[in-house]
Amino acid sequence: MTPKKILFVCLGNICRSPAAEGVMRSLVEEARLENMIEIDSAGTGRYHIGELPDRRMRMAARRRGIELTHHCRQVETDDFSRFDLIVAMDESNYRNLREMSPSVDGDRRIVRMSEWFGTSNRRMHSYVPDPYYEGAEGFELVLDLLQDACQNLLNELIQPHSEK
Ligand code: 4NP
Repeated sequence: MTPKKILFVCLGNICRSPAAEGVMRSLVEEARLENMIEIDSAGTGRYHIGELPDRRMRMAARRRGIELTHHCRQVETDDFSRFDLIVAMDESNYRNLREMSPSVDGDRRIVRMSEWFGTSNRRMHSYVPDPYYEGAEGFELVLDLLQDACQNLLNELIQPHSEK
């Protein structure tokens, strides 16, 4: 496979995208592909720069064996050339990324996480919902969606023409 750099993006970079980064990293490590796949996350907003992920997200991820240690940062112009895939969690993130992208080449790298939802999640969900103002079940849903999508994304990177 060709080496890939993936940036997961949400609004705050304290819930969904650092969780996606942690989930993807754990799958990549299991597959022993750390040298082939580089992973990071960032936010379109700048409310929480420097902070660790939201405590509720960290606890929910920890219960699934995943430690989230990312420190919040905002998306920057260089990201649009540095990363091969820039993965938006929802439509608002997608639109914001398209606005921030400095070039057509950058635009082409922006994709939606829902592209990798499996059949059963796809029936119910068309994006990764923001859990920030939700109860505990919002965080569990985010992790369920991310574990499904990240596994499908990894499968596709390993075997580019495999079925989702
Ligand atoms: P995230 O969730 O985009 O999944 O990190 C949010 C976190 C913080 C805020 C919004 C969404 N906020 O408005 O502070």
